[in-house]
Amino acid sequence: MSFKRTLVTSALPYANGPVHIGHLAGVYVPADIYVRYLRLRGEEVLFVGGSDEHGVPVTIRARKEGITVQDVVDRYHYLIKDSFEKFGISYDIYSRTTSDIHHKFASDYFRRMYDRGQFVEQTTEQFYDPETQEFLTDRNIRGECPRCHAQGAYGDQCEKCGATLSPDELINPYNAVNGNPLTKKATSHWYLPLDQYQQWLEQWILENHKEWRPNVYGQCKSWLDGGLKPRAVTRDLDWGIPVPVEGADGKVLYVWFDAPIGYISNTKELCDAQPEKYGNWEKWWKDEDTRLIHFIGKDNIVFHCIVFPSMLKADGLILPDNVPSNEFLNLEGDKISTSRNWAVWLNEYLEDFPGKQDVLRYVLTANAPETKDNDFTWADFQARNNNELVAIYGNFVNRALVLTGKYFDGKVPAAGELTDYDRQTIEEFKNVKAQLENLLDNFRFRDAQKEAMNLARIGNKYLADMEPWKLAKTDMERTATILNLALQIAANLAIAFEPFLPFSSAKLRQMLNMDTFEWEQLGKTDLLPSGKQLAKPSLLFSKIEDDVIQFQIDKLEATVKANAEANYE
Ligand code: 2FM
Ligand code: ZN
Repeated sequence: MSFKRTLVTSALPYANGPVHIGHLAGVYVPADIYVRYLRLRGEEVLFVGGSDEHGVPVTIRARKEGITVQDVVDRYHYLIKDSFEKFGISYDIYSRTTSDIHHKFASDYFRRMYDRGQFVEQTTEQFYDPETQEFLTDRNIRGECPRCHAQGAYGDQCEKCGATLSPDELINPYNAVNGNPLTKKATSHWYLPLDQYQQWLEQWILENHKEWRPNVYGQCKSWLDGGLKPRAVTRDLDWGIPVPVEGADGKVLYVWFDAPIGYISNTKELCDAQPEKYGNWEKWWKDEDTRLIHFIGKDNIVFHCIVFPSMLKADGLILPDNVPSNEFLNLEGDKISTSRNWAVWLNEYLEDFPGKQDVLRYVLTANAPETKDNDFTWADFQARNNNELVAIYGNFVNRALVLTGKYFDGKVPAAGELTDYDRQTIEEFKNVKAQLENLLDNFRFRDAQKEAMNLARIGNKYLADMEPWKLAKTDMERTATILNLALQIAANLAIAFEPFLPFSSAKLRQMLNMDTFEWEQLGKTDLLPSGKQLAKPSLLFSKIEDDVIQFQIDKLEATVKANAEANYE
């Protein structure tokens, strides 16, 4: 590895609603697994996140609810931040794009590019509401869909038939907020001339980053093959960061211009606050020895692989080394949708399943949409909890600890001579470190977690085959050897699962009273010295009963009914 440190970012979620399982599965859990893994390895790593608080949807919500936009973003920023904390998403900083630091940083960024002549100014005709005297953005324009003729299609998309639209295509466009018919008016904006970056991007992505995930590479290739066009980086809007140019009154930076800069300004916020711990922000964004990784969902690919890198290049900053984007997670066979309330919201899960954050982390990683869209079902959630976490991992650990308590007063017994079967068992897991590294280094979290679970299977099988509870009646020496090895496997599990199931690992680590806890120890059988006193065991996982699952299914069915009544379908 030729880099010295890794900077990991996760997409800044819009602060216009809570986050749901799709977000967690697609972006936040994989990013957190990766960061925890690097930290366990002792690498220098920084994990930066925050809320995306600009853009049009927050303004629409504010108007609908009759509150200020700041109220909206405050409410959701804190709700989202709290959900992430409770799910153990281990940010070094989680900040927000309404912060003063961010406003100044993004504004200065624009101004530097402006001063260097890195934008082109263009005047175009845009939709305008003469009564409210405002230009309207795509999302604020509605009308009849030119394809399926549904009423109420948005200026960027028809939610009925899924067509991607531009406002010009809408039949009888009107202001989404007040229903006013619209006219056109000339307005000028600054554009990032992506066409000028085309050749460079082709070389950088298509030639130099063939290792990117096929879904990411493929999407980039299709954008590049289509030919890039200049993109407006400013908007006529009263919510956002004012364009720092004379005569640009009423204009703000486009949300997709300022949001990714949030990765940098949030880094700066952290570094300025604790320079002795983190160094300065330039170390993370200007030094070629820093490796930058963006975790995102597939709808963000073009911005993170094409637009933002062009902005980074324009300002002389480092470029992402990889952008491991996931596909989408569906819920019970249907696309997750905020407007149809078809989602499992994290704040609700936390209420309905207190203390079971690791279960959701586990299930979402087991079904991670890494290569294709995937499905979350409550039946699968229950089965994975009961048949894997409880029956394999939890059961194994519990047996090892309870038996040690019963026969050896809770002290790690000394191992005697090993049998062939013991050796064979050790052989089976000694490569776990290399296997996990290979998968994690390549962002294959689903398979990596399977590998960790496989270690639990090995342990479970070992105890089931050896039956130390029977041997204890006749051969204490052999019982000691078996339990010693079982406990060593349990200690390995605490480490191997830490990136995936941090809460359970912390609990197990505490039960095993482990002093050291390093990635380097994986695959070894001397993690717990004999004689070490263990803590009193408690269950790592518990069974989830049918009625609990039924409650969730009923909740979704009620949503379907409510939607049908509201005539969404
Ligand atoms: O798609 C989204 O939710 C955007 N708010 C992601 C922004 S990522 C980054 F650019 F900040
Ligand atoms: Zn349509």
